[in-house]
Amino acid sequence: MALFNKPKTENSNEAPKKAKNSHYISRSEQKRISKENSKAIKYYEKLKKRKVKVDDYTTQMNDENNVIEFDDLHTYFFSDAGTVKAVNGVSFSIPAGSTVGVVGESGCGKSVTSLSLMQLVQAPSGQIVSGSIRFKSNMFKLDKMGKKIPVYEEEVDENGVLQVKKDEKGKPIIKRNELGGNLYEMEERVVDIAKMPTSAIRSIRGREIAMIFQEPMTSLNPVFTIGNQLDEVGLLHIEGISKEKVKERSIEMLKLVGIADPEGVYKKYPHELSGGMRQRVMIAIALLCNPKLIVADEPTTALDVTIQAQILDLLREIKTKINGSIMLITHDLGVVAEMADYVVVMYAGKVIEMGTAEDIFDRPMHPYTIGLQKSKPTVDQETDKLYCIPGFVPNPINMPNYCYFRDRCEKCVKKCSGDYPQLVKVSDTHSVSCYLYEDYQKGDK
Ligand SMILES: Nc1ncnc2c1ncn2[C@@H]1O[C@H](COP(=O)(O)OP(=O)(O)O)[C@@H](O)[C@H]1O
Ligand code: SF4
Ligand SMILES: [Mg+2]
Repeated sequence: MALFNKPKTENSNEAPKKAKNSHYISRSEQKRISKENSKAIKYYEKLKKRKVKVDDYTTQMNDENNVIEFDDLHTYFFSDAGTVKAVNGVSFSIPAGSTVGVVGESGCGKSVTSLSLMQLVQAPSGQIVSGSIRFKSNMFKLDKMGKKIPVYEEEVDENGVLQVKKDEKGKPIIKRNELGGNLYEMEERVVDIAKMPTSAIRSIRGREIAMIFQEPMTSLNPVFTIGNQLDEVGLLHIEGISKEKVKERSIEMLKLVGIADPEGVYKKYPHELSGGMRQRVMIAIALLCNPKLIVADEPTTALDVTIQAQILDLLREIKTKINGSIMLITHDLGVVAEMADYVVVMYAGKVIEMGTAEDIFDRPMHPYTIGLQKSKPTVDQETDKLYCIPGFVPNPINMPNYCYFRDRCEKCVKKCSGDYPQLVKVSDTHSVSCYLYEDYQKGDK
């Protein structure tokens, strides 16, 4: 895409490395950072607003069994203190019909990864800088004018010729889809969400990929009833649906998420419901358009333990019902152990280990993953004090070139001060980024 001159993002608008006090930035440096930030922001904002054809962001999946493939994704925040590389080269995929758990401590880039997937990173300072997010989308087919192509009802006329059926006003009648909206011609296309203009992502957001956030009270609007908020999503994404039909679907979804009195809750305001009920409503909203992928960002963190278990059960049940996939983001290893088929462990904006749930829980390899496991309370072990990984996540501005975990690692060897370790495949399903396992790459197990 040589549309504009791409601004330098590597080591350009970062705080100086030699500052005596790492938090101190002089006025001239501040000026330089802000100038470079505005250049970079202008460039990425222009890219998002450009007019492009669908073919320009159509691509192919590496593996047809995946719904999503993150490939070397970089999402940065251009802040006044320097560039925060929140997601710094993340690659992993979500196979169809599976639950992928993304774990890591606070601030490691889990939410920014998921927000990148929806193009919801806080702009203008937050931007997808490079990489791909491939998604197998069921898109509307467009005619030469860029309009959706309706599928009309047909009937045989008195001459035995197949004709488009018309209503009493002479308007052709559009067929209904399974949700009660207009039926349009569809086609399966693999799109690169990272390269899509904002106008195009709107037809995927909510319809094909839905998101459930941590705090339902902040996601629900306090001045509208639950019914209003459900109906609004339906009316927005299911074109041609009638008000009666959308209400019917909203109530059906409330029933599906286990709300005992769906008609009553439909008329209530968010503050009249408990935390667990509100999270159920959020799940109902997410399910309205039969999405292929549900992204759940810490869906149970704000709930108490018994409600947590109910919501996790519900998510599991729903995944089977809609035959979709779930990207489950959490800092809680217990939640992942219960839910996930595959686990991706992130640290400071990078994937440091990934594999099946068995790989990660039975055979953890990266010292950080081992540390996370040790810091989890267990009922069968008697300990006075829980293990705590020493030190802190490094400052996200001016990340070092060596392993980001080095200064906290108890297994650190001489090599660890070298370049950042590559992600090495230790089995067909299991990969780890650590010098202790670099021999696996050479086939020496
Ligand atoms: N709007 C923002 N502006 C600047 N930095 C941000 C913003 N949102 C997130 N970040 C930074 O991006 C990094 C990753 O954040 P996040 O993805 O929210 O972490 P988590 O893994 O806890 O979900 C953190 O260092 C955070 O400070
Ligand atoms: S590469 Fe070295 S410092 Fe990093 S996690 Fe592995 S052993 Fe520890
Ligand atoms: Mg988060």
